[in-house]
Amino acid sequence: MCGIVGYIGGRTAWPIIVKGLQRLEYRGYDSAGVAVLNEGDLKLRKCRGKVSDLVQMVKGQDLSGAVGIGHTRWATHGEPNDVNAHPHVSMNGKFVVVHNGIIENYREIKAHLIEKGYTFKSQTDTEVFANFVESLYLSEKLTAEQAVKAALRRIIGAYGLGIICVDEPNALFAARKGSPLAIGLAEGEYFLASDATPIVEYTDQLIYLEDEQVAVLTRNGYNISNFNDDHVDPVITHVDFDVDNVDKGCYEHYMLKEIHEQPQSIADTMRGRVNPENHTINLGGIADAMPRLASARRIIVVACGTSFHAGLVGEYLFEQYARVPVEVEYASEFRYRNPIINDDDVIVAISQSGETADTLAAIRMAHERGALVLGVCNVVGSSIARETDSGIYTHAGPEIGVASTKAFTSQVVVLAMMAFAVGRRRGVLDEATYASLIDGLSNVPSLISQVLDSAAQIREVARAYQLAQNAIYLGRGYLYPVALEGALKLKEISYVHAEGYPAAEMKHGPIALIDNCMPVFVLATHDKFYDKIVNNIQEVKARKGQVIAIVTKGDSEISKMADYVIEIPVCQEALLPLVAVVPLQLISYYVAVMRGCNVDQPRNLAKSVTVE
Ligand code: F6R
Repeated sequence: MCGIVGYIGGRTAWPIIVKGLQRLEYRGYDSAGVAVLNEGDLKLRKCRGKVSDLVQMVKGQDLSGAVGIGHTRWATHGEPNDVNAHPHVSMNGKFVVVHNGIIENYREIKAHLIEKGYTFKSQTDTEVFANFVESLYLSEKLTAEQAVKAALRRIIGAYGLGIICVDEPNALFAARKGSPLAIGLAEGEYFLASDATPIVEYTDQLIYLEDEQVAVLTRNGYNISNFNDDHVDPVITHVDFDVDNVDKGCYEHYMLKEIHEQPQSIADTMRGRVNPENHTINLGGIADAMPRLASARRIIVVACGTSFHAGLVGEYLFEQYARVPVEVEYASEFRYRNPIINDDDVIVAISQSGETADTLAAIRMAHERGALVLGVCNVVGSSIARETDSGIYTHAGPEIGVASTKAFTSQVVVLAMMAFAVGRRRGVLDEATYASLIDGLSNVPSLISQVLDSAAQIREVARAYQLAQNAIYLGRGYLYPVALEGALKLKEISYVHAEGYPAAEMKHGPIALIDNCMPVFVLATHDKFYDKIVNNIQEVKARKGQVIAIVTKGDSEISKMADYVIEIPVCQEALLPLVAVVPLQLISYYVAVMRGCNVDQPRNLAKSVTVE
């Protein structure tokens, strides 16, 4: 959720930290703050609002200092205001802390500190931690590192922490349990961040801190150990990351850039895996798990939000092409039920960020019950990628807009590759059908490019409905999950109430909502449901609803009854979700822009949901 950045080295820390926070703002944007230390002199600036508000606030001030930490917040404890913004300083000014996550036993620790005379300025659990470390440091005469570890051994919760101590200005401390932290290694300097994006501009050598590890970074070197002081030899990862990927380029918003990147991101997902020449699919990441996957009695997909919708498409794909029963579960529900997991079930966890707390907890629970867990993640080295037995990276590139777009299509591509490969292995798919599906997949990037060519026409459709208060999305079969996804996109970035429904369910309730003010987006392509969906459109029109139909190019029937049609190219039914979702992504984007909403940073949301 929140974003953490830290720096220690020979340069001025402030601009490095501020730039890093801007790259992490997708993680939270309620408030921002930075603390820098210059030979024991602490300068702390923080405010409610975005990093740009912080930059504006400090204009012209001297903020020199070569060690510092910064934070961009998504509020959990305490409303977003100047006081609750991080960093938090301990009562006697010894420790400064930035924190991502939740300290569950903070009330008990706070009560103990109050008894010892501590007072608190904010409502945050983070200030409690800062005071707790300080109280141990002062009362037990510990070093800063010992005090941090002593506190960590006693707190319960999930956290990524960046800490500085004014008495030890040549050190930056970091600790992780549950919330990601990456350390960038360079000559005489170190970078700390919640993910690699703020770091890759300076170095390609990274250490991803593991749970229950503490890093001490100084200008002379680094040391990583666990909470009990045992030294750890970390794995140094070489990241191959194009820094241009984290900029907006010529686009006004990341979301628009990411929608337009889909022909490329999908091609990247298939690269080295789908071979259209010899009609093979090679999934190296799950090669060892393939025998178990292919003989699974059941697949259980766990995911949240858009990734859950991708999982629903996967259900249709696996059931049709591999004949394996699939259940798709919200990770947040699954983890708290007492689900029946058999030895021959396989769990597939889908997550763009690889950090979603509920999905991670569902994986852990499935592991405890002996299941094989496969991951479909975008962020390389993320917690879910590391905790699954094996998996397939989507390789969609960094997704920075809070609304997920290219991650969804890449997840669906991964699930399609898996379903087709399993179907072939199980003998369900004959060679000709398999080859034709592979040809279809290879052709998807070009079909999406054709949809993107009609962006200007789609913008005009959005203009017609920009003031709508509600919307309904209808689809059937493979396009039912797309209806859900279209509605989610509209509500999260435009704040327009929207519902997705299987089209035939409309008459069991939602039809009561239809009147001449209700836009109804209908996915009505040429597939086996075509005649039925035409009937559904007529039912809406008979009640004076406004119909915007996504149709197959050349359709002449629906244009006679719909208010607007958006054409998409001819495509195999199983791959339609990949193409049909694109106009819905664009509609949401344009409606949000026309309503003056902050598309990349919608209110109340954060990209990576690392708390329950
Ligand atoms: C919607 C969106 C969210 C995420 C959800 C899961 O546009 O982005 O619904 O899909 O929070 O996130 P990941 O995929 O990172 O686990």
